[in-house]
Amino acid sequence: MNQVNQAQERIIIFDTTLRDGEQSPGATLNVEEKLTIARALAKLGVDVIEAGFPRASSGDFEAVQRIAATVGSETGPRICGLARATKEDIQAAGEALKPAAKGRIHTFIATSDIHLQYKLRRTRSEVLSIVPEMVAYAKSLVDDVEFSPEDAGRSDPEFLYQVLESAIAAGATTVNIPDTVGYTTPSEFGALIRGIKENVPNIDQAIISVHGHNDLGLAVANFLEAVKNGARQLECTINGIGERAGNAALEELVMALYVRRQYFNPFLGREPNSEEPLTNIDTKQIYKTSRLVSSLTGMAVQPNKAIVGANAFAHESGIHQDGVLKNKLTYEIMDAESIGLNANQIILGKHSGRNAFRTRLRELGFELSETDLNKAFLRFKDVADKKKAISDWDLEAIVNDEIQQVPELFRLELVQVSCGDRATPTATVTLRTPTGEELTDAAIGTGPVDAVYKAINRVVNVPNELIEFSVKSVTAGIDAIGEVTIRLRHEGKTYSGHAANTDIIVASARAYISALNRLYAALAKQQAEASEVPVTAQ
Ligand code: KIV
Ligand code: ZN
Repeated sequence: MNQVNQAQERIIIFDTTLRDGEQSPGATLNVEEKLTIARALAKLGVDVIEAGFPRASSGDFEAVQRIAATVGSETGPRICGLARATKEDIQAAGEALKPAAKGRIHTFIATSDIHLQYKLRRTRSEVLSIVPEMVAYAKSLVDDVEFSPEDAGRSDPEFLYQVLESAIAAGATTVNIPDTVGYTTPSEFGALIRGIKENVPNIDQAIISVHGHNDLGLAVANFLEAVKNGARQLECTINGIGERAGNAALEELVMALYVRRQYFNPFLGREPNSEEPLTNIDTKQIYKTSRLVSSLTGMAVQPNKAIVGANAFAHESGIHQDGVLKNKLTYEIMDAESIGLNANQIILGKHSGRNAFRTRLRELGFELSETDLNKAFLRFKDVADKKKAISDWDLEAIVNDEIQQVPELFRLELVQVSCGDRATPTATVTLRTPTGEELTDAAIGTGPVDAVYKAINRVVNVPNELIEFSVKSVTAGIDAIGEVTIRLRHEGKTYSGHAANTDIIVASARAYISALNRLYAALAKQQAEASEVPVTAQ
């Protein structure tokens, strides 16, 4: 069965967390972190991973290449690389994707008049000649080519039909319709997809995909309307992260298609009661993947976020609690277990050995190098001394913390605070600097964390503004591990830091240093890449 026919039977999930999601301010991931997320996405069952934009930077190129080599096996997901409609971009994507068993080049060019006039400074007829030439070039490098007319949501439909027809004739097997600025409404977007189905003569030779941003909070609703009108690939991100207000959230789309399958089945030509899954996603992996992406990107999930927010399955009002106790169906449309929320088993303790630790990590989807495993095991022993029972979520917090590969330019050697209702919060820190020197300083603050950050600033001495600080406990209980996420701003750019520890002052200090280290590394990288191509894709 070819890909086009297969797509008529179920919905293809195209995950762009590592490309569009990573374009969220401050969400920058390094290669190791991207690999960890790519493995989790493969376990989740996504069909396509858009791993990056190879020509944007050498880091992006390397990430796509390594994901292609390690996750892109014959039985794994298809690995995709983004490219503007230029030979240089397409060639870089083709090169980076070479190690993948199944690779895809996703090339795009804007089609709305506003983008043509102000951004590209090109005419419609120029675009109409670039598209087939670049799609054909991509097709000469890989079998699988996707084409996107950027800002399709605000493009003239008649022009769009012509562009899509030429892209398909040149070899595109997926045509993706982006609502780049999150402007359309569900009925408009559905009509746009229907128009494409009815007016592009060769549309039966391609899968219709949709891509959308959430500026008006309508991305998921738009996609579901698109599915009803013939879209068979959905481009989405974990936790809905992405440029500005983000992208359509994978977990919301997948669970809508799962919970409301009887409603959606007929649009895919199935009987309403068909139990055949509409996507290939293992929904039980959703919660875990959401936590992983949140901790590695430093993008906290709001408590009331649909599906994966901390309150998504919590019932506060007495009437609701009473109803749920009598019968869950009174107030619950889905089971917490269906997203893997209750899969938090207590497995290990202080007597557990290295083998048990490694085995459980493997079961949780972590494949660590010997060095990372040793580091994580030492942390595990340290935590197990303070906390009797170590749950899967604790293990994930420990490992996510240890494997973050933020370059250790500054390293925390010591942090000490004194505080209380009659004391002035005072902190002393010792840091190892990038030159290997150990420097100690102290400061007072409005609270212990403020004092620690001020003491660190006295050593590091880089002006920055702290714009977000959040502490979350991984599990319930007084001995729980605390996860601290912070975001700081320097010269208009955001950098995030994340750390987990049973002591939240230590976690706060480490999270801050991790963000400062990212800032330093980014400044160095920016200098190195000054001559490279800027990232402009959304
Ligand atoms: O939002 C957008 O238009 C994009 C394209 C590159 C698909 O991200
Ligand atoms: Zn986008």
